[in-house]
Amino acid sequence: IRMILIGPPGAGKGTQAPKIKELFSCCHLATGDMLRSQVAKKTPLGREAKKIMDQGGLVSDDIVIGMIKEELDNNKECKGGFILDGFPRTVPQAEGLDKMLQERNQTLQHAVELQIDDSLLVARITGRLIHPASGRTYHSTFNPPKEYMKDDVSGEPLVQRSDDNPEALKKRLATYHAQTTPVVNYYQKSGIWKGIDASQPPGQVWKSLLSIFHEQR
Ligand code: AP5
Ligand code: ZN
Repeated sequence: IRMILIGPPGAGKGTQAPKIKELFSCCHLATGDMLRSQVAKKTPLGREAKKIMDQGGLVSDDIVIGMIKEELDNNKECKGGFILDGFPRTVPQAEGLDKMLQERNQTLQHAVELQIDDSLLVARITGRLIHPASGRTYHSTFNPPKEYMKDDVSGEPLVQRSDDNPEALKKRLATYHAQTTPVVNYYQKSGIWKGIDASQPPGQVWKSLLSIFHEQR
């Protein structure tokens, strides 16, 4: 499969993408996760990116396009296809992706938008807990871990993301509406766009995704 998941912060991209990865044995490339791993390693890029991410802005197009290209070229899991989470989020990134795929004689099959009202996102973002090493995501109320503040699989501690507070969320949402809504329009014109209701419980959202895969097979 070759697809992208578009949606505002907290829409459920990182919750659904691993399930798609498992179903299709493809790679799951999340630019936010890649950037957070640079931040954790305190690389020069990570130090620069942290400031931008904590303010809810966007890292430069060239950097994220380069990160995706590197993975598509070298990550063996991507031979089975890919699901992109959080990329592209500007029109130049969408154009960069088209160019990369053209060079590989490939096309994108699905551009799925997770649609949800901004008002529902505050609770999702402020309750989110993550396991940094694996990227596994929980929610204090909607999807609590088996043991308080511990990852179900490794037992390691869960943490909050430094950009998961109401102030940063406001900026991330503003950035989304200004920069990523045009990306939705870009794919609507291309004919591969589908929108699904992301305000439903996770299992329902998954069913909506499955119906898209069945329709277009
Ligand atoms: P990124 O990591 O991509 O953050 P985001 O887009 O803000 O999205 P989130 O990860 O917050 O939301 P999600 O949709 O994955 O939600 P989740 O499934 O976890 O990017 C972070 C930053 O990096 C950006 O702000 C930017 O600075 C930079 N960056 C990244 N990519 C970039 C790019 N391409 N270009 C430039 N800069 C870039 O769910 C959220 C919570 O809700 C969880 O707790 C979950 O358990 C819960 N939940 C999920 N689904 C449901 C449901 N159906 N019902 C109830 N609860 C649910
Ligand atoms: Zn995410």
